[in-house]
Amino acid sequence: MTQAMIAVQDLTKTYGARVAIDRLTFSAQKGEILGFLGPNGAGKTTTMRILTGYMPPTTGSAQIAGYDVVENSLEARKHIGYLPETVPLYNDMSVLDYLVYMGKLRRVPQVEDRAWEVLERVGMEHRADSFIGSLSKGMRQRVGLAQAILHQPDVLILDEPTIGLDPTQVVEVRRLIQEVGKEHTVLLSTHILAEAQQLCDRVLIINQGRIIAEDTPENLQLRLQGGARVLVDVAGEAGDDLLERLRALPGVRLANRLADGRFEVVAEEGQEVRPAIARTVLESGYGLLELHRAAMSLEEIFLQLVQEEAEEAALAEPEEAKAEETALEPEEAHTDEEA
Ligand SMILES: Nc1ncnc2c1ncn2[C@@H]1O[C@H](COP(=O)(O)OP(=O)(O)O)[C@@H](O)[C@H]1O
Ligand SMILES: [Mg+2]
Repeated sequence: MTQAMIAVQDLTKTYGARVAIDRLTFSAQKGEILGFLGPNGAGKTTTMRILTGYMPPTTGSAQIAGYDVVENSLEARKHIGYLPETVPLYNDMSVLDYLVYMGKLRRVPQVEDRAWEVLERVGMEHRADSFIGSLSKGMRQRVGLAQAILHQPDVLILDEPTIGLDPTQVVEVRRLIQEVGKEHTVLLSTHILAEAQQLCDRVLIINQGRIIAEDTPENLQLRLQGGARVLVDVAGEAGDDLLERLRALPGVRLANRLADGRFEVVAEEGQEVRPAIARTVLESGYGLLELHRAAMSLEEIFLQLVQEEAEEAALAEPEEAKAEETALEPEEAHTDEEA
């Protein structure tokens, strides 16, 4: 098997007594767009900050292109492009100067040529001489994306890249992500279900610091149709044979293997599949360590996500009217909002 571009094992971060992320384990392969979908406070930004070397985990480990983000932080960072929640752009620099400056910091060869290349990539050549402070939020986001791909990193980490954009800008930035996703491994966080479904090859759903599901967008769609979700922990090296048997059980909509080795089974609506699962595990010759219904159902999480989305849309409307008149004003300095 080829080496994972992002590999995360049991990653945990606590702030005092608060557990921000709890034993996250996942990986992303070359060329994959992996979605990180979860409500506010789920732990998306925390994970991304650890991956990009901005802070260490409390326990657990992560590698980028094979380099440990703590032990070999410098090397790992060379392979990462990062678009943070709020991009720290310099308002009084021109777009081109900013990119050249960032390129020099990262020792990009032929930095002027490369700056023009990425400008073209994000469709901003015509704004090369504009002051960053004069750009709309959508254009700033493109500049942020341009600096993220400047040094041709293997891995792109994009933290809620479409948040706060108007609908037209959202479409443009998503299209751009699809484009750059062809050349990079992308980890993209979002709390918008539709965005994850549109952009990602695979989606991790994170809630309260834990990965509660991982699936393809197609299967996510299936899950939305309801049905209980059961987690199954099996002793010994259970593999595809068991997975196939679980999938074949009557009343089972889908079954998956989670990164931590557990199986998850989603039932058809109204079906009680736990006795059949228990029997199948034992009859297949494995020990059954644990079998339980997931605490919070995916449907509840989705409801939460969808509700946040609706609230945000409601808030965004008056903003849009305002956007026209403030578009030429420099934006206020952003501060990192943290609870
Ligand atoms: N610097 C910090 N100090 C204390 N708690 C924090 C800090 N940063 C994040 N948290 C907490 O960690 C949890 C995860 O936050 P975050 O990673 O920002 O989530 P998301 O990006 O998914 O909205 C939240 O409960 C948040 O309040
Ligand atoms: Mg966040």
